[in-house]
Amino acid sequence: MARHLITSAIPYINGIKHLGNLVGSQLPADLYARYLRGRGHEVLFLCATDEHGTPAELAAAKAKVPVAEYCAEMHEVQAEIAKGFRLSFDHFGRSSSAQNHKLTQHFAGRLKAAGLIREVSEKQMFSHADGRFLPDRYIEGTCPNCGFESARGDQCDNCTKQLDPVDLINPHSTISGSTDLEMRETKHLYLRQSTLKDQLEAWIDSKKDWPVLTTSIAKKWLNDGGGLQDRGITRDLDWGIPVKDGDKDWPGMEGKVFYVWFDAPIEYIACSQEWVDAGKGDDWERWWRTDKGADDVTYTQFMGKDNVPFHTLSFPATILGSGEPWKLVDYIKSFNYLNYDGGQFSTSRGRGVFMDQALEILPADYWRWWLLSHAPESSDAEFTWENFQASVNKDLADVLGNFVSRITKFCCSKFGEVVPEGGAYGAQEEALITDLAVRVATYQGMMDAMEVRKSSAELRAIWVAGNEYLQSAAPWSTFKEDPEKAAMQVRLGLNLIRLYAVLSAPFIPDASETMLGAMNAAGAGWPDDVAGFLAGLPAGHAFTVPDVLFAKITDEQREDWQSRFAGVRT
Ligand code: 2FM
Ligand code: ZN
Repeated sequence: MARHLITSAIPYINGIKHLGNLVGSQLPADLYARYLRGRGHEVLFLCATDEHGTPAELAAAKAKVPVAEYCAEMHEVQAEIAKGFRLSFDHFGRSSSAQNHKLTQHFAGRLKAAGLIREVSEKQMFSHADGRFLPDRYIEGTCPNCGFESARGDQCDNCTKQLDPVDLINPHSTISGSTDLEMRETKHLYLRQSTLKDQLEAWIDSKKDWPVLTTSIAKKWLNDGGGLQDRGITRDLDWGIPVKDGDKDWPGMEGKVFYVWFDAPIEYIACSQEWVDAGKGDDWERWWRTDKGADDVTYTQFMGKDNVPFHTLSFPATILGSGEPWKLVDYIKSFNYLNYDGGQFSTSRGRGVFMDQALEILPADYWRWWLLSHAPESSDAEFTWENFQASVNKDLADVLGNFVSRITKFCCSKFGEVVPEGGAYGAQEEALITDLAVRVATYQGMMDAMEVRKSSAELRAIWVAGNEYLQSAAPWSTFKEDPEKAAMQVRLGLNLIRLYAVLSAPFIPDASETMLGAMNAAGAGWPDDVAGFLAGLPAGHAFTVPDVLFAKITDEQREDWQSRFAGVRT
């Protein structure tokens, strides 16, 4: 039994996430966590809400509630939806927790002591009317490049040009609308990532097995534009973690907070402390401190490609720079983007299907299966309603659901709700078992390698093999001449349901539970020995015919959803 620490990128607090966000981190992380638990490993699977930064402040202002209140409410909303999708976090924390405040300030203090922080004086937009500095998203004006009137201080949403607030024509505060702005001197802290460049590069070069998507992004940031740049880690905001040197004040930094991307990854560690403080675990250090046993831990992170620079460079710079024995990530699984019906999913524009809406129309397993079997691994992927309908109807309803329903109903009608006897397996059965043993080994190999799409294809092939067997063995025909033989075929079919339940659990946990419940086989372990596992339900074992596992999506439903989600969410 090995120990696996798994973290998913922590979703921003501002609003409910869309299916593209889900498949880029939380869902594949859950798949992997469930798989490893299924194989009997010890797993700590953590996620949290990312609660600081201007998006949180802006969303709270829009909702007209104090930001702390907004975050507390939205955390509950996101936690509930995560449960709805059966995301099996051991803890779902908050980056605004007291634990993260303390730990973030601790890291800053260590970095300062190591000489890895420099203070920089820079000019920033100050609003007299608002009495504060305005970060990028708080300033709008006309884009000097395309004339778009609502270009933000950091970027024009219309022509995508990267901007500096001073570039804007007629800049104004988005808080008060005031144009009474002035460039004022302010001091900020920069993390000297550049001095850690060689160390970071050697570390990344040592990760020969990482996905190319991960290493190529890391290398680009290490080497483009004159090499790794130092990063500002403080902001002039009210909401966030106050800048401190451990538990001491940091002269000159009064009223400032850490940049959200500095404290967010530290929450991975703080989250494990929250987990302990919530009474769910008793030792977080054995997961994170290499001097306390974490050397034995394999740590895997899941994230979308836009998060890769922070996880391959900035966060490791914090960890290495602290000079303390913290656990570094062992493997970073990153994802491309999922698009929605000919365009992008977009939170700000309300385009696509959001997690709460998805669960309103269909249970979690339908979405989990489609999203994981179409995960954007080697390239961007696209969600279309036609494809969704086809996958659900074929894979889940026709292949898996139909298999389960046919065999249980047939058994029930001819032999009752108990596994029938019927003698030893014959040549056809032995051939199927041999084939399945190979396929299960392949499936395991792919799951171990976090090849999400390939794993789903192999799992589907395992379902198909059972269906084809049933089709060709045809116990309903055999029964007429040789009821004994039909009983044996049915016995294998029922055992296959138990096998499918266990293998499919990481993808479709609810259906898996239904299958195990119907087969009266809760607690079935992993099929390390497929042949032995397929003898697990002996003759005389009672079962019940389950309800339909998956309903087909009708053309009417598809068209209805297609038009309902064609517009934008307000
Ligand atoms: O992109 C995002 O959704 C960020 N909130 C991810 C943060 S991951 C980490 F650093 F914690
Ligand atoms: Zn523009």
